[in-house]
Amino acid sequence: MMFRTSLLTLAAIAAAGTTLAQDLPAPVQARQGQFQIMALNIGVVANMARGNTEYDAASAQAAADNLVAISMLDQSFHWPEGTDNMALEGTRALPAIWENLPDVVEKWGAFGAAAQGLAAVAGGGLEGMQAALGPVGGSCGACHDAYRAPE
Ligand code: HEC
Repeated sequence: MMFRTSLLTLAAIAAAGTTLAQDLPAPVQARQGQFQIMALNIGVVANMARGNTEYDAASAQAAADNLVAISMLDQSFHWPEGTDNMALEGTRALPAIWENLPDVVEKWGAFGAAAQGLAAVAGGGLEGMQAALGPVGGSCGACHDAYRAPE
């Protein structure tokens, strides 16, 4: 009986100490997925802006609208305490997030405002879209600089 108990204890310790990326808690997977969707959609307009792909008004508008839609997701459930990169492997979320929540919320809001600016003009021509894309990219970078660990 003693033997069995200590084996179980060891297994529990091992499980707690080695969280593999594929075992990440659902909120972490959800927030990383949302960022992947953002990256995919900003990529569509960024490629047009750089001339890698031809400007297409409908696609530019769809990508911008997707960014706005993501910006409107309530973030409450994506960031539970204890899911920073000191507590879990497989996340790049810095503990500073939970020490500066009002600032994080503000940076998320800045992303939303920039995405709306892009959506207002994305379908109206290449030059307007290019001009409105900079602030969106800037809003990503501002938050990453402060709250995302380097790879
Ligand atoms: C308010 C803060 C904030 C904003 C705004 C933001 N990000 Fe992030 N981003 C993060 C944090 C924090 C992580 C790390 C999440 C994790 O690993 O748990 C992250 C991770 C990512 C990842 C990696 C996801 C993965 O699979 O691990 C990508 C890609 C990304 N962001 C793209 C973007 C793009 C593109 C934008 C702008 C359109 C953006 N982010 C705006 C904070 C932000």
